[in-house]
Order: sequence, then C-alpha cells, then structure tokens
Amino acid sequence: MGLRMGSCPMLDPENTNRTRQKIQNVFSAVTHDSAGKHVSGTALYVDDLPEPGNLLHCYIGTSEYAHARITNMDLSATRQYKGVIQVLTAGDIPGSNDISPVHLHDEPVLADGLVQFAGQPLFAVLAETRSIARQAAQLAKVEYEELPAILDIETALADKSFVLDPHILQRGDTQSALASAPRRLQGEVTTGGQDHFYLEGQVSMALPGEDGDVLILTSSQHPSEVQLLVAHSLGKPVNAVTVEVRRMGGAFGGKETQAAQWAIIAALLADTSGCPVKIRLDRDDDMCSTGKRHDFLIRYDVGYDADGRIQAIEFLHALRCGISADLSGPIADRAMFHSDNAYYLPNIKIASYRCKTNTVSNTAFRGFGGPQGMVGIERVIDAIAQQLGLDPLAVRRLNLYDKDGKRSITPYRMKIRDNVLHELLTELEESSGYQQRRRQIEAFNRHSPVIKKGIALTPAKFGISFTTTFLNQAGALVHVYKDGSVHLNHGGTEMGQGLMIKVAQVVAEEFQIDLERVKITATNTGKVPNTSATAASAGTDMNGMAARAAARKIKKRLLKFVSKRFDVDKSAISFVDNHVQAGEFEMSFAELAEAAWLARISLSATGFYRTPKINYDPQTSTGRPFLYFAYGAAVSEVEIDCLTGESLTTRVDILYDVGKSLNPAIDIGQIEGGFIQGAGWLTSEELCWDSKGRLTTHAPSTYKIPTIGDTPASFNVQIWKKGRNREKTIYRSKAIGEPPLMLAISVHSAINQAIASKLGGQILPALNTPATPEAILTCLHPKEG
Ligand code: MTE
Ligand code: HPA
Ligand code: MOS
Repeated sequence: MGLRMGSCPMLDPENTNRTRQKIQNVFSAVTHDSAGKHVSGTALYVDDLPEPGNLLHCYIGTSEYAHARITNMDLSATRQYKGVIQVLTAGDIPGSNDISPVHLHDEPVLADGLVQFAGQPLFAVLAETRSIARQAAQLAKVEYEELPAILDIETALADKSFVLDPHILQRGDTQSALASAPRRLQGEVTTGGQDHFYLEGQVSMALPGEDGDVLILTSSQHPSEVQLLVAHSLGKPVNAVTVEVRRMGGAFGGKETQAAQWAIIAALLADTSGCPVKIRLDRDDDMCSTGKRHDFLIRYDVGYDADGRIQAIEFLHALRCGISADLSGPIADRAMFHSDNAYYLPNIKIASYRCKTNTVSNTAFRGFGGPQGMVGIERVIDAIAQQLGLDPLAVRRLNLYDKDGKRSITPYRMKIRDNVLHELLTELEESSGYQQRRRQIEAFNRHSPVIKKGIALTPAKFGISFTTTFLNQAGALVHVYKDGSVHLNHGGTEMGQGLMIKVAQVVAEEFQIDLERVKITATNTGKVPNTSATAASAGTDMNGMAARAAARKIKKRLLKFVSKRFDVDKSAISFVDNHVQAGEFEMSFAELAEAAWLARISLSATGFYRTPKINYDPQTSTGRPFLYFAYGAAVSEVEIDCLTGESLTTRVDILYDVGKSLNPAIDIGQIEGGFIQGAGWLTSEELCWDSKGRLTTHAPSTYKIPTIGDTPASFNVQIWKKGRNREKTIYRSKAIGEPPLMLAISVHSAINQAIASKLGGQILPALNTPATPEAILTCLHPKEG
C-alpha cells in the first residue's frame, strides 16, 4: 500500500497496540545464518560459484629444495603442453613481487633466483583446465645449486639466524631474585606446529573488468590486504582492485595473510590474459606451501618458595618463523604477553628469538602465540607442584593474579581490572568434582598398572585487542530500503565463527525488527574500505560496534523525522517489535521507512569504531595492549595406556566467561570447537619434515586432526552466568574466538599427571607437545629414549 503524505492511517490511535513486546535479538541462541546451507551443501564458497564461460585455471610449480639457487628453469615443455595458455614467472610481474604483510619485502609471490623452502612457488601455469595446468607444471625442468639449509630452531638459534631482532621483556632483577629464591628449577618444553586444516583450502577467482580493473573473489580473513597486495603486484592503484569474501570454509588464522599469494597469481594472469582465472590449491600443496602455527622452544629457570609461590622466572622463547617475518613479530609478542597466563610473576625476564629457518613462513593460528606462551608457564607450575608434592591446582591458585593491588600488574605493566578467575576456579572446582575425582584417580592408579588416569584444571586469561594498536578499527555500512528491509555490510569476514549473525543481531536489536529483515552481505572492499583482518577474536567487538554506530545514525534521523512530523517529543518515541510508537500513535517499521524516504531522509549510513583506551610502546614493552581479558578454565580427565602410549580424554568440564553472551549457541560452539582444536594441537597433530626440509605430513593420511571420536564422551561446557564485561563493549559481551583453544592445555597437563603416576610421582616427565603415543612412550621409558 502506498503511503500518502498527510494521511497516515497507521497513525490512527485506534490501531495502536500498546502491548507490543520488545524483540530479544541479542542474548538469544539464534542459529548460525548459514547453518542450514552448510549442512545442505547450498552455502556458496568460491569454488562453488557459477564459472564464467571463458574461465581459465591456473596451478603452481614449487621448489624441491629447502635452500638453493636456481641455475636454470626450463619451462619449454610446460609451455608446449596442449591446453596451456601461458606461464608466469617472477620476471613477468609488472609491479612488486611481494606478499609481506608488514612491508618488509621479505617474501616473494614467486621465487626470483633463490629458493628458501621446499614447496616455495616458482612459477604458475595458466591452462584451459585445472588438471592440464597441474600436469604441465610437473614438466618443468628446474636446475638448482643447493645451499646449506637451516631446518630447526636449535640450529637457527646457534647461528643467530633471525627474521627480526630478538626482543627482551623484563621486570625486576631476575638474576638476584633467582639466586636468593629458596628453591630453583630449570627445564625446557617444546611445542609443535599445527596445520590449519581448514576444510576449504586456499582459493581465488580473479575477474578482469573495464580499464584494467579486477574483481577478486577469495577466501581471506583480510580482504583489504589482498586488495593492496594485488594492486602493488599489478602496479595499479588500490581503487582498481575490488575484493569480495562471502564466507570461508574455516580459516583459523591461516587466511589472515596466506590468501594473498594465490589471489595475486590469479589477478596477474587475469590481467595479462583478459580472462577470468581461478586457482585452488590441492590439500598437499596447501599444506606444503602455506604457513602454520609456530613451533616453539621454551626454556625456563624459576625460583620459588616452599609453598610454590613463584619469586622469579626467566624464559627463553625461540620460535620457528620460517623464511620471512610475516606476522611473526606480533605472534612472538603475544607469546611473551601470555607467558604469565593467569599468574603474577614478580621478577620476570623473557628473551624472544624470532628464528629464521628454511621452512615455510609460519603465520597466525588461533591464539596467535598465546597458547605457546601459556604452555610454558603451565609446565612450570606442574613442575613446581611435582617438586613439592602438591596438588597443581593449589600451586595455580597460590600464584593467580590478585583482583587488585601490586599483584595484579602484568610484566608489561598493564593493570588487570577484570580478573574473575578466583570465582571461576572455585565454581569449576566444585561443579566438576575435581577434588573427589582426583582422589578416586589416585586410588585407581594404585591398582591399575597399564591404564593410568590423570586430571588437571587449568585457567586461561587472554588479552583482547590487536597488539598493533592501529589495527583496532572497523567500519560498517547499513542501508534501510523503502520496504523496511535492511542491508548490512561491515569489514569483518565470516569463517564459520558466527560473526555475521552476531552483527545482524546487533542491528536488528537497534531497529527492533525481526532478524530475518536484516540481509547479511558479502564483505567487499568497495563497501567498507581500509579494514583490518578479522582476527585477534575482535571481530564482533569491533564490527558489532561499527554496525551499531551506523544503525544509530539512521535511527537518529528517523527519530527526528517522526518527532517533527507528528509533533511528539523524541522521548515519547520508541522502536519496538517491528514498529515505531510515537505517543499515542504507531506505525510499522516498513511504513516508517517509506514515509521517511518520501520525506527525503537518508536511510543509509556508515559506522566506524576504534577501540578505546589501548596503547602499547614496543620500545619499552609497556602499555595497555588489551582493552580487557577473556577468562575461562577447564578440567580434563585422561587415560593413558602405558603399553601403547595412546591417550584418551574421557571427560572435560569448561566454565568460560564470555561477558554477556550475544549468542550462547554460537559461543558454546566456539568453546567446543576451540577446545577440540587445541587438544588436537597438543596430542595428535604432528608436523614432520625429512632431512631435506620437505614436509612429510601433508595429507590427512599422515596428519591426524581430531575427529568426533576424539571428543570426550562427557563434555560439559558452561557459559559463566555472572559474566559481564566491565568495559563498554558491544552489549557487554566478550570475545570468544581464540581463548577456548588454550583451555586444552588441561589435557596435556592431565597426561603429564598420568605419566607421573606411572613413574612414581616425583619425576617430571619431559613431555613435549604434541603428546603423541610415541612421545608418551618415550616419557614412560626415558632410559630407552
Ligand atoms: N571458528 C570457526 N568456525 N572457523 C574459524 O576459522 N577462526 C578462529 C576463531 N573461530 C575460526 C573460528 C580465529 S583464529 C579467530 S581470530 C576468530 O575466530 C575470528 O573471528 P572473531 O573475531 O569474529 O571471533
Ligand atoms: N592477533 C591477530 N592478528 C594480528 C594481531 C593480533 O594480536 N596483530 C596483528 N595481527
Ligand atoms: Mo586469529 S589467529 O587472530 O586469525
């Protein structure tokens, strides 16, 4: 029905329904917007999109050596292969041959004379079909002059082979505090790497447009960076490139920087051929040629008192960065910032070495260095508890940050104001029956020679915000159409974590309309520019705020319009249940939209958000890098088989503080998924390289990610009911994406307990991660090695 000016039937007081209920869009367990599409196979990923008729396909040829000079690259057979259109090498790139996200120019798109890891892309073949491109790539004859390669952390450390300068964070005089401590302990733990194993691998499609423009459809957490790097490689301004991401089939940090290379290759070939080009890596090539979680060598030297209270600690962190910096700087920093986990460490020195190795450049992975830092301190706590014959939980409690005062200040001098771990630990200890089960396990172990059980309760405290302060900004774009339907866009990307639905909930809540009226749309650099990666778990915090700001701008205009038109004070106007009520009157949101449009009111707005209060000075390693902390704790119970070394996690209880949960269904999914992914990292996922630096575990046949069978039979996940962010985040919620992964450290700690019980309690097993059956057996039989 068209609306006529001056005669507004819906403003008839007779029609007014005074009993309208507020629609509860936030805080409700709404299903993921794509859940139905995920399970029915109708959610579109890049490789599912309709292919243009003239689409060409490309594939890469990669290095066989870890470190070598290319003396000759004969690509004639590749070029002559039937169906091949062209071959792209480093020399063909018109702009910059660079994928470095931090502007160090330390990693090329295609190797130029020098190869630095096995699996490094050397050239790309463009052909009529993907299989032709792959086959033709195999025909290249590359000759190398092999160079000495550094393949492990220890060698890199000894050779001072670093991608970035070492960094030291210090508080207090650790040497004298260590010397005067009543007790002292030294040790070492190594943590393994981890492949992201997103179900959808790296993929991009580039579509050439007018005037040399290009549109890239890709699977990236960071469309703006892909846009920038593609533009640089083409030698074109950024406005010639548009990048769109509807969703990713998982990313986990593996698409924060790693998507750019493939997008660039597709764009370069689309630009020269004038045809659309698609590239999709095979699982094996994806695993060999893209970065992973950094493996770490952690050494510690700790001084403590007879109760187990830590007085001083020195950590050495050495991480395998691979050939280039990529995000290793902020990852190593975050590891340092989390080497305290939840504990006050009065005197502390952390020396962080960012090792350069001839292996693929490692990158972001859920937790971003945090998990590695935490494994270090949790190992220290377990070691202290064993030395003193105490319950590790007692030692954890004793060392927890206080809620206030001196013992609430982190090594980087940030005061912790929101510590809820004391309450969380008490609640979880009781609800999980920790003490009682610990006694039962001790009794069980006394009479069970082969199967040994272990239990551990570990906390996690995780800092929320990008530690690179300027990255903490986000934008959104909201349109209200004449029929009252809403178009929502923002800079965040969907990787399965439920960002889109949460932001839609926020906008629907703001307008008080049904969630179905808000259209979730693909992330697009043409709609919201200069965005940060969707990372650091800050997606909802930042994009939710930006979208709310946009919605509020529109709402403000609507309020003014209604107030003026019907001569009602703004305070008497409210949006409720798909309607606006103005004093005695009401009209539907759709009618309001049309009336406002007729009155020439703009129904479109951008929104922007910058995280307040944060600052960090890398020179002094001090400041407030995080707006707040996310907290959680987990109790894991495991069984190990001392004959085979196998471990089984039988029961897990988690209590997690997500503030006021915007969507408990999504949040519980994130907690469960994050925990299981962390357990995989710590127990079964093992990356192996041969003596030539070639990854030998590059398929699911040799790389074991957790499956449903690895889920604990009893898995009790609770969102902490009292949760409320003390900072003014979006609806006082808290980030959820990464921190639950770190709760899986309880699994590793429990395995330690089980091994220790077999070994007679007092001897600390030197269990590294992952705790594979081999690693567990090695601990059980230390003499045989
Ligand atoms: N959940 C799913 N299903 N898939 C993913 O790829 N990535 C994780 C986490 N949860 C991921 C996920 C990582 S590494 C981050 S940083 C956050 O989601 C990013 O999303 P958020 O900031 O919206 O939480
Ligand atoms: N987390 C994730 N990604 C990042 C960060 C961070 O702290 N800093 C830069 N990129
Ligand atoms: Mo997540 S590792 O910050 O993409």
